[in-house]
Amino acid sequence: MGSIAVFASGGGSNFEAIARRLEGTQHSIALLVCDRKAAYVHERAKALHIPVVSVSYVRNTREEVEHRLIEIIDTAGVDFIVLAGFMRLLTPLFVERFSGKIVNIHPALLPKYPGTRGIEESWESGDEKVGITIHYVDKGMDTGPVILQKEINRIPGESLEAMADRIHCLEHTWYPDVIFELLERQPENFPSQAQTRREKMT
Ligand code: GAR
Repeated sequence: MGSIAVFASGGGSNFEAIARRLEGTQHSIALLVCDRKAAYVHERAKALHIPVVSVSYVRNTREEVEHRLIEIIDTAGVDFIVLAGFMRLLTPLFVERFSGKIVNIHPALLPKYPGTRGIEESWESGDEKVGITIHYVDKGMDTGPVILQKEINRIPGESLEAMADRIHCLEHTWYPDVIFELLERQPENFPSQAQTRREKMT
């Protein structure tokens, strides 16, 4: 029986997809952390009866926010921190504190197009293959060891919106399953990161 904390800043479609995937299993989302008051993810959390921790990076420093989060996460005793559209960079201190326990999804085939414009930059690139990357978080930006990548072919003439829809669809299909698998593989679900790289889930 495992639990996770999901960190999100926006619409929360991945958050909801993960919550739905864990319904009826022995695993659950213990809490949602959100840094934006107006984010739609709040509505989803309310509907799903998942507690929300709101943090403000405007009134507090990154270190102050993270200090509070460490206390909350330690108290909740979650197994993983799942970043799902969380648009803040975590400090090296925080990442080290939860080393191997923070997972992120990125809407591009890393190492290409890290940052906040993964879909737009994939679309603008003209690359034949686009896709998603699910990875452990390290101290860099979108640089951690890859758990899973899924790619799709570009459709000639496809609009940015249409491609974004297909990428989100990939995310909602694979991220919940990866989270479920990580929770299922406990307590041996923290192989060394090198080992994880060799044994990518497919
Ligand atoms: C997702 O596409 C996710 O991959 C992306 O933010 C979106 C959040 O959507 N994350 C990043 O770009 C991280 N660099 P959601 O709020 O509907 O889940």
